[in-house]
Amino acid sequence: MTSSATRPASAPFPGPLSAGVAAACDPPVMEARRWIAGRAFPADRPLLNLSQAAPVDPPPEDLRRAIAEAALHEPQAHLYGPVLGLPALREEIAAQWSAAYGGAIAPEDVAVTPGCNQAFCAVMSTIAGPGDAVLLPTPWYFNHKMWLDITGVEARPLPCDGALVPILAEAEARMQGVKAIVLITPNNPTGAEYPAGVVEAFAELAARHGAMLVIDETYRDFDSREGAPHSLFQNPDWRDHLVHLYSFSKAYRLTGHRVGAAIASPARLAQVEKFLDTVTICPSQLGQFAALHGLRRLSDFVAGQRTEILARRAILEREFRQALPDWELMGCGAYFAWLRHPFAESSADLAKALVEAQSLLMLPGTMFTPQGDPLGPQSFRMAFANADAEGLRAALARLAAFTAEHRVSHGASHGAARGAPA
Ligand SMILES: Cc1ncc(COP(=O)(O)O)c(C=O)c1O
Repeated sequence: MTSSATRPASAPFPGPLSAGVAAACDPPVMEARRWIAGRAFPADRPLLNLSQAAPVDPPPEDLRRAIAEAALHEPQAHLYGPVLGLPALREEIAAQWSAAYGGAIAPEDVAVTPGCNQAFCAVMSTIAGPGDAVLLPTPWYFNHKMWLDITGVEARPLPCDGALVPILAEAEARMQGVKAIVLITPNNPTGAEYPAGVVEAFAELAARHGAMLVIDETYRDFDSREGAPHSLFQNPDWRDHLVHLYSFSKAYRLTGHRVGAAIASPARLAQVEKFLDTVTICPSQLGQFAALHGLRRLSDFVAGQRTEILARRAILEREFRQALPDWELMGCGAYFAWLRHPFAESSADLAKALVEAQSLLMLPGTMFTPQGDPLGPQSFRMAFANADAEGLRAALARLAAFTAEHRVSHGASHGAARGAPA
């Protein structure tokens, strides 16, 4: 963040730079922060920041007290702990996940990691290296793409259908050299909830090709469907081809404590342990106490969060079309909506214009798509979970005002040519 923020783009790089890191994009959220840094926004139109999927409120008081108690009374909370996490937390995750997914997950199948991003990096390091390929549905989660770039692994784009669900037949045709298929459901950035049958078909495809299905369910607590979202853990052989990833950042508002999890075969976790031991040695101890407390005591809080997020989603689904008849709500779920705008310009330019004209920050689709993918310039990701009902309505009103003003100043748009959005 610091170097790219302070160094002129044209300055020569001071010393060697690895090809992998050079190939990775700058952190998108940091770039977007620079668009608003030091800016004053009008009092009657304060900044509406819908760029990042991160709860802004602190964890509930009960959870903060549990962290304080652990800090004061658990000597272990300040020491290195087991690389793969506290045994009690691994047991709790195994028990709760077994019940939720109707499968058999043992504590030895669980690793606690310093956040879900690091779970991804650790797991992927055991699966793929330079010369290998990994399928990422597009639009993709930029940190997944960045890690693959950094490690010299080909991130092979996998197209999605109109509902933003990855297309199995397209994957089938792209499996040459593929070591893993990565699915995120509910999805970041699109909000799509992948149907159980689709997820299961991808698991079968991965297994058939000797590849792994890596399924990131960071947003599982906000899935609108009741019950298990898939039956992957009911397959007694799931360990041969499946890795599941989770984050405690969202449902428990523990972003700064860095706690996530990977569920995989004990054999793979023994390899994951090499990575984690080398990089972080152990997950945050205080964060783990918090996660354990959350799992044991805060199911009502999490259920309440889910109800609130689903209510926000419902507002968008109900009011979007009327507020923005020329736009298209292509995806909506968990924390995110994926919007298609009606303008000829790229979302990369429009995102900055939106900050300027309407004090509204959303990430452009170009941050989530390969170069040349037409969807990127046409789209935005809206992290709608960050706004309450009033904020969401304000966001829709500002987009409508922007659309009207932009029409006047820039003339016809491709939306008009395309006709009414689906
Ligand atoms: C799909 C997905 N995976 C992982 C993460 C990162 O989670 P953590 O904070 O646990 O590293 C995020 C955060 O935005 C995410 O959207």
